[in-house]
Amino acid sequence: MSFWMRRKAIDGASGGHEGHQLKKTLSWPHLVALGVGAIVGTGIYTLTGVGAGLAGPGVILSFLIAGAVCACAALCYAELSTMIPASGSAYTYSYVAMGEPVAWVIGWSLILEYTLVCAAVAVGWSAHAQGLFKMIGTPDFLLAGPHAGGIINLPAVIISMAVAGLLALGTRESATVNMVLVVIKIAALAVFVALCLPAFDASHFTPFMPKGFAANPGPDGLKVGVMAAASLIFFAFYGFDAVSTAAEETKNPKRDLTIGIVGSMAACTAIYMIVAAVSIGASRTEVFSASEAPLVFILETLKHPKVAAGVALAAVIALPTVILAFMYGQSRIFFVMARDGLLPRALSRVNAKTGTPVLMTVLTGVLAAFLSGLLPLKEIAELANAGTLAAFIAVGASVIVLRLREPERPRVFSTPAWPVVAAGAILGCLYLFISLPAKTQHYFFYAQLIGLAIYFLYGVRRSVLAKGSSPAK
Ligand code: ALA
Repeated sequence: MSFWMRRKAIDGASGGHEGHQLKKTLSWPHLVALGVGAIVGTGIYTLTGVGAGLAGPGVILSFLIAGAVCACAALCYAELSTMIPASGSAYTYSYVAMGEPVAWVIGWSLILEYTLVCAAVAVGWSAHAQGLFKMIGTPDFLLAGPHAGGIINLPAVIISMAVAGLLALGTRESATVNMVLVVIKIAALAVFVALCLPAFDASHFTPFMPKGFAANPGPDGLKVGVMAAASLIFFAFYGFDAVSTAAEETKNPKRDLTIGIVGSMAACTAIYMIVAAVSIGASRTEVFSASEAPLVFILETLKHPKVAAGVALAAVIALPTVILAFMYGQSRIFFVMARDGLLPRALSRVNAKTGTPVLMTVLTGVLAAFLSGLLPLKEIAELANAGTLAAFIAVGASVIVLRLREPERPRVFSTPAWPVVAAGAILGCLYLFISLPAKTQHYFFYAQLIGLAIYFLYGVRRSVLAKGSSPAK
């Protein structure tokens, strides 16, 4: 069978891999916490300021647009993850719907995305934790990468490795710790909103779009405008896809995944709209956009220094939940791709004691530590967005392909108005992709060329489906 004809069968996507099964330990509260833990993070705590600098008060529209596109993608994810309750997220859905080469491209994009998100959040965490590291005498050249005049961002490296260690100890322990930290993170945002509301000034919202709507070159040549901000702010919204990578480890995938994905997405969209609106109401965008920790900065300007310190501490304590969720997703994508023969199978071995793919988890941690130690946040986040947008486009396309090819197959969760929603996910993600900086788009395509080279040198011959397994009907 030619490689472009290889597709996974829906019913066989999760079975038949003796010795390579993950333990079923999760239920929906774990998944909602995993989702909220993955979604709320560096995006709202840090990139809100950068986005406001690119769009002005129109950043509120950027949040709306990015949120609407992600909502379409979330609905598509919910349909596919309940129809195909197997690990691998968009990679597995693409394998079933569109075949192995597309699946490889999406799997490679997810590897890119998940690793870069871990690295970006580690850098954001480091920005909030600098004070603590200085207090224990860490020299400045160990607190920033070469782009900012240092040698290595050591706090970012340390947090990446620490989270990898936690994950390697086992899923249940990690998910429980995650749940406690999610509560801290949301409580800090609630306090922020409560203290900003009395200072709300509606005049801060005009002019609403000083830099225009479509992404356009600003004075220094970099793209500005509401869409340029949306293509960055998009980072703040995704993370619900990490929940679907846990499908094989959920006790009741049909119910748990639907609640986990749609519930965490809806909750986070509401939280963001409120936080963005009160931030702009409390401080002009041109003032807080310069800060690396805009929420903390706004509280300081409102003369709440102790609460500001508390919010910074909450970010330090809780941002690792985002790394945790994405590192979890990353190790599972690796696991499934290796199990499918597209990456070396020895890497996917599950440790008998912990029930987790320990080697893969540690490798992911080392890669994230390396990137976060050396690269700047904005560039990492934008490249992560490119990989995520590719995955979301594939998910929208997979819904359309499977609806047309298998219209009669029962769907536990049916995407409402599926042609509109799936097209909304695909076209919305394409629009966000072209609004990214040209440099980011180029890096993304170079990364894909490297990925395709690996596929044609290794996976195309080692694939499980190349070794005589029957093709999908
Ligand atoms: N949505 C996640 C964050 O904002 C990636 O950190």
